[in-house]
Amino acid sequence: MSIRTIIEPFRIKSVEPIRWTQREDRERFLKAAHYNLFLVPADDVLIDLLTDSGTGAMSIYQWGAIQEGDESYAGSRSYVRFRDSVQSIFGYNHVIPTHQGRAAERILFTVMLKPGDVVPNNTHFDTTRANIEAVGAEAIDLVIPEGKQPGLIHPFKGNMDVDALEAAIARVGREHIPLVMLTITNNSGGGQPVSMENARAVSAICRKHNIPLYFDACRFAENSYFIKLREPGYENKTPKQIAQEMFSLGDGCTMSAKKDGMANIGGFLCTNNDLLAQQEKDLLILTEGYPTYGGLAGRDLEAIAVGLQEACDEDYLRYRIASTAYLGNHLAEQGIPIVMPPGGHAIYLDARGFVPHIPLEQFPGVALAAELYLEGGIRSVEIGTLMFGAAAKMDLVRLAIPRRTYTQSHIDYVIEVIIEVWRKRDKIRGLKLTYEPPFLRHFTAKLEQM
Ligand code: F0G
Repeated sequence: MSIRTIIEPFRIKSVEPIRWTQREDRERFLKAAHYNLFLVPADDVLIDLLTDSGTGAMSIYQWGAIQEGDESYAGSRSYVRFRDSVQSIFGYNHVIPTHQGRAAERILFTVMLKPGDVVPNNTHFDTTRANIEAVGAEAIDLVIPEGKQPGLIHPFKGNMDVDALEAAIARVGREHIPLVMLTITNNSGGGQPVSMENARAVSAICRKHNIPLYFDACRFAENSYFIKLREPGYENKTPKQIAQEMFSLGDGCTMSAKKDGMANIGGFLCTNNDLLAQQEKDLLILTEGYPTYGGLAGRDLEAIAVGLQEACDEDYLRYRIASTAYLGNHLAEQGIPIVMPPGGHAIYLDARGFVPHIPLEQFPGVALAAELYLEGGIRSVEIGTLMFGAAAKMDLVRLAIPRRTYTQSHIDYVIEVIIEVWRKRDKIRGLKLTYEPPFLRHFTAKLEQM
């Protein structure tokens, strides 16, 4: 076919107006929010790229399925549909619904970890790290060295450094590593994929040492599509087949259905281990709900059951990956430093390269995110020194793209705003903290301009 334009593979049936504001208004809003975009009311944001989590648009099939939600407390028909849909992709024996990903993490780590244990991952997401640390264990990041260099092109920058994994096991001892995790795609490292080859190598090491491997599977469909595009031997496999193969390498997963579950809320925890599943369900009943709903409504389970399958659709994934790349490539063409190549769900501006005059202790990422809001009402999020403290290896500003939500002209607007900010980058000022909570400080921290 000679037509090359990749279009949104849907038409719009229901619209949600967005609100225009002036720069003076936004200056006021941002001051009132103490330069923390989490504290800005969503109505005062024009294009909200804070997260791709729970912010996507559902399909007519999901809305239709919602009408069929069975709200029975126990043994709900919706749970059966949910479980069957999950198992058709993930293949694990036990499927435990939770209200979102971090609830699955908390239950998994509470059951599996004790103080002093160590959990290796390519890169832990902030809630994953915090939930590991909350039970007194240590989270270590073992992404390949290429994954820490923003400008470097590599097809699978989310891969785990397998030599570093072997070294970590030798150093701390197998008995202190109750599980290894692989995050697909690697969100904190730029939304970069993990190759099947790497997952296979990590799995082999885990099996050799008899350590369970769990996937943090939030963006498994995007990861599968990258494998199809980039890894020899997978060109003719469907994203679903690729996902099935990947999950067969592990023993379980945590999942936020707010990402590739295409739902506004929900998550799950899977395992092949019967004993663990029993303990996990006991804990679930204590804090989330009965094991056939786990803190969700029956209608949510229906939306996820349909959404997981839609996320594996090739027309959708082609558009999804192409539209993220469209944003990234237009910025890169202007010389704007971004994590390359473009990731699956987001583009990450490299703040250390964008505003090199701002020292790390003045939060270059937060300062840049503030300017994007002031210039064009765009909300983004810092993944850097505010989020991770001195442990941050990069200072990134993430522009996360909600699924099926914004059109190409919205993205063209975002590109224009960022180019304008790039032109005026020398004028961007650093920030200092005036308040920080004891953990996950980026959500509620308060700052002021230097
Ligand atoms: N793991 C990864 C890789 C994530 O990106 C997230 C959430 C979680 C776990 C936790 O899932 O939010 O359902 O509890 N990431 C969102 C984001 C919040 O903006 O990247 P959750």
